[in-house]
Amino acid sequence: MKSMTLKLTAAAALVSVVAFGAQAAGVTVTIACGTVGQDFDFCKKAGDEWSAKTGNTVKHLTIPQSTSDILGLFRQMFAAKSTDLDVLNVDVVWPGIIKDQLLDLTPYTHGAEKEHFPAIVANNTVGGKLLAMPWFTDAGVLYYRKDLLAKYNEKAPTTWDELTATAKKVMDGERKAGNGDMQGFVFQAKAYEGLTCDAIEWVSSYGGGSIVDASGKVTVNNPQAVKALTTAAGWIGTIAPTGVLNYGEEDARGVFQKGNSVFMRNWPYAWSLSQGADSPVKGKVGVVALPRGDNGKTAAALGGWQLAVNKHSMHPKESADLVMYLTSAAVQKDRAIRGSYNPTIPVLYKDAEVLKANPFFGDLYDTFVGAVPRPATVTGVKYNEVSAAFWNATHDVLSGTAKADESLKKLEAKIESIRRGPKWQ
Ligand code: GLC
Repeated sequence: MKSMTLKLTAAAALVSVVAFGAQAAGVTVTIACGTVGQDFDFCKKAGDEWSAKTGNTVKHLTIPQSTSDILGLFRQMFAAKSTDLDVLNVDVVWPGIIKDQLLDLTPYTHGAEKEHFPAIVANNTVGGKLLAMPWFTDAGVLYYRKDLLAKYNEKAPTTWDELTATAKKVMDGERKAGNGDMQGFVFQAKAYEGLTCDAIEWVSSYGGGSIVDASGKVTVNNPQAVKALTTAAGWIGTIAPTGVLNYGEEDARGVFQKGNSVFMRNWPYAWSLSQGADSPVKGKVGVVALPRGDNGKTAAALGGWQLAVNKHSMHPKESADLVMYLTSAAVQKDRAIRGSYNPTIPVLYKDAEVLKANPFFGDLYDTFVGAVPRPATVTGVKYNEVSAAFWNATHDVLSGTAKADESLKKLEAKIESIRRGPKWQ
């Protein structure tokens, strides 16, 4: 009897050593979660917290800054059925494009998606499967130099014409006063997805629609869109540097944050960086809704990122657990306060600490919930092709190689040919 007990105890000890060993080593989950602004630092911090809680390890895959380049990279990995990546950041316009590569998260969420904006959850749900959890939302906003507008007795613009006039007045004045580097307006005009966002804001704010309407009709070739793109082309080399034709988000932020532009179009992430201890424009920046064109109203492109699990992941359970942690209210609150990332959880817009750190989250709440979606749902798997056609046609107009009316006419035909037939999907 005694020896039997001893044997059992030894066996139990062995089992517990094995179990403990497995827990201590855990698994390694590889994540790609962005490199713009403070993306990496925040993701690393929250990933480390999850590691400490679970005993698993988080490995970070470095990815490009441009969403268009990230999509290209992920598509290559998917084509190779790669297991190198477990958790990935998913742009709001991608679910229809990469739907076949993502794990259905429904069994892992325990209903947590109900805390998030229903429109984003709907965007991330394809064929009844929840393919990604909302992580942060985005909308284009206008940053301006409070100190410079006060100096020149100007107000934040509400129309593009006002922006053009104020940018020129302040820029000319500052240049005369000795700052030869001063620009009027910086934004994203490189040929990539970011230009699609900026240009959809211009076109939509002129009442010119959003490229393809919800019924699938190609609407982009219209007189208001022509006006919008013609107006934007007029900024290049006047209030905006010609170099803007090669700017992404971080290029625009670099110029503005150094103190060398009166206005900047960017996403909310740029706010916390502009208020950082080392920022030359700390305390000098205001944020308002983007201006409107004639016949139109302010329009912000809807952006944002989700987290998803690669369906080829060897660690689906742990990967989904990491996704649930990173998208939780606690992590979103921290990211909002310290990184001005817009939460996807409505109650956080009523949180005093979040609002104190980001006053514009309250003032511009309608902008965030009423932002203009790109036509990703209706065009589905073909969205990237449509967007690329749009950003290229816009880039041609901005760089002066085509007139807006000709470019939009050609674009309409091109988008029709991408659709091939009467229906998108
Ligand atoms: C931001 C937005 C994203 C958009 C991208 C364009 O990251 O959140 O939705 O596609 O900018 O550059």
